[in-house]
Amino acid sequence: MGEMTLPDGQARPARRHGMGDPGATGRFGEYGGRYVPESLVPACAEVEAAFRDAWADPEFRGRLKTLLTVYAGRPTPLTPAWRLSEELGITLLLKREDLTHTGSHKINNVIGQALLARRMGKRRLLAETGAGQHGVATATAAALLGLEATVFMGAQDIERQSLNVLRMEVLGARVVPVTSGSRTLKDACNEAMRHWVSSVADSYYCIGSVMGPHPYPWMVREFQRVIGEEARGQCAAELPGGVPDYVVACIGGGSNAAGTFAGFVDTTARLVGVEAEGGAAATFGRAGVLHGFRSMVLQDDDGQVTEAHSIAAGLDYPGIGPEHAHLRDTARARYVVVDDEEVVEALHRLARTEGILAALESAHALAWVLRAARSGEIKPGSTVMMTLSGRGDKDLPTLKEAR
Ligand SMILES: Cc1ncc(COP(=O)(O)O)c(C=O)c1O
Repeated sequence: MGEMTLPDGQARPARRHGMGDPGATGRFGEYGGRYVPESLVPACAEVEAAFRDAWADPEFRGRLKTLLTVYAGRPTPLTPAWRLSEELGITLLLKREDLTHTGSHKINNVIGQALLARRMGKRRLLAETGAGQHGVATATAAALLGLEATVFMGAQDIERQSLNVLRMEVLGARVVPVTSGSRTLKDACNEAMRHWVSSVADSYYCIGSVMGPHPYPWMVREFQRVIGEEARGQCAAELPGGVPDYVVACIGGGSNAAGTFAGFVDTTARLVGVEAEGGAAATFGRAGVLHGFRSMVLQDDDGQVTEAHSIAAGLDYPGIGPEHAHLRDTARARYVVVDDEEVVEALHRLARTEGILAALESAHALAWVLRAARSGEIKPGSTVMMTLSGRGDKDLPTLKEAR
């Protein structure tokens, strides 16, 4: 890959942000790496070796593709948001991850990791969850492949995502409430890691986003790459120019965005990641180490990690995947912030104009599109491809409260 010219006229070497293999160190620029207790270093190395081997094995790839197709419902459609596009004066295309089995993009990653766990001879999946979508996906994949599942979830998230807790339990998973700290995703991650240390022989830690120690940020992005690759092909068929002007996705840890961006990083599309105001690590964070990796992290003056707050449980995380921090530093992607009020408005707008009930997480991406189109930042006539990462059924109790 040589030089490329972005729409803002700046030429940058595509190689620097090709979203490729970060190599043995797992570094994306100054971010990433493997900051774990001594006892977990061999476990991470074992996962890396197993993933490299599996990813190079056509049989593994074929098995994954088959399950994503006949079980998870891929490829997902690219739906034009007809009425909203007309209202905004742009062409808005929605990548419909909400239509996958279990209702969010999390299933893409989890089927990949569950297949890997089986290949490694593990009998149990450990997972953390915020909104519960990753937990539901893990419980689902565990049931499908005959594995046990233990899911760590903050006590506050258990309250606001009670439907997903029930779903996990019906699927046969054990949900472990985490009552420390803010009782949300950050604390659930701590607990899951702690548990992994003590059960590494028979357990596989199935991380739900592009975070954690190497190889997870890279591996999860590769399992989510399917979103971007499908969308790229669908845009080529749908748009006269083949490539949209903007590619937009919401960011918690950043997995749906990383998978989406991976399909467009070598094009002229502007990549935009949308963070929740109260969890905007790319925007308000500083470099630091969290949950085994170095990235942008929300922290106070003493370097203590601060709590994230968002109406969307899946975005309530004080860090961002290390590759996003690098994409930000190299200016290949831009990270913007929306607040809870705009998000609820966006969710209702989409429901009423298109008949689609989006997850609160996904509504963050739309909230920025609405704001930027209305302000003229996205120029009339522009084309926008937005990943709709999940469906909003799980958020109905929160919406009821917000009324
Ligand atoms: C529907 C949905 N979208 C987005 C996210 C955020 O995760 P990520 O940034 O890894 O895509 C979540 C997390 O739970 C989610 O449930």
